[in-house]
Amino acid sequence: MEIVVCKTKEEASKLAAAMITDAVKKNPKIVLGLATGSTPVMMYGEMAKAVKAKKVSYKQVKSWNLDEYVGLPGTHDQSYRYFMNENLFKKIDIKLSNTHVLNGMAKDPEKECKAYEAQIKKAGGIDIQVLGIGSDGHIAFNEPGTSLNSRTSVVYLTPSTIKDNARLFFKGKEKDVPTRALSMGVGTICEAKKIILLAFGKGKADAIKGCVEGGMSQFCTASALQAHNDAWIFCDEDAASKLKLKEYYRWRSATKLGK
Ligand code: F6R
Repeated sequence: MEIVVCKTKEEASKLAAAMITDAVKKNPKIVLGLATGSTPVMMYGEMAKAVKAKKVSYKQVKSWNLDEYVGLPGTHDQSYRYFMNENLFKKIDIKLSNTHVLNGMAKDPEKECKAYEAQIKKAGGIDIQVLGIGSDGHIAFNEPGTSLNSRTSVVYLTPSTIKDNARLFFKGKEKDVPTRALSMGVGTICEAKKIILLAFGKGKADAIKGCVEGGMSQFCTASALQAHNDAWIFCDEDAASKLKLKEYYRWRSATKLGK
């Protein structure tokens, strides 16, 4: 696990975006796993800037998103499909038909999840998976108590996630946040060849501490990344503030990245 401690979220977003841009340049047919939420928005902005500057093209890139709320169609302004269209897909030259988000309206949600996994497999697996982290340590919507081997399935949100998501989205109305979602599993995520997790702000400090320096546990599903051999955690100072070895990680990653 490589922990990149940055002074600001701007610096972290730029570094992570540069890592993705370079990878797309090297492999224009790369398969990306993408996340929603407030955290990756700045990084997506930087990726879009690189496309605008003609440094890179996403014309042949394929993407699969982590999750979607049960009961929200892609046209709903709080759905994750809508979020991706607005915050990334419309701003880069990716073909919309090459982007995939789980269908929260599927009649048979478990069948939808199995088909999604099969699609990813057929595409050769995910090359780079982007992740945020919940304040309870979740990745995708894999809440505390989820097996670290879990596969894409229907999941149940904790009251703390519902509260966090209402604060940032759904105009603050907790009662409007769906209580279930379709989500890639922890096991599914860990099959990606490379992982880029972003975490910003004091509200993520405990989750990052659990992810990086806690034991591997289903109580903090992000800790499963400890067993991945190419996982990069990009944090700002606040998110990294509870890490015992913060200065060591900062020095090690700066040396590896040549920054
Ligand atoms: C989003 C996702 C979630 C978020 C996490 C953090 O697709 O799967 O795990 O990454 O809840 O959300 P933000 O970035 O809004 O703090």
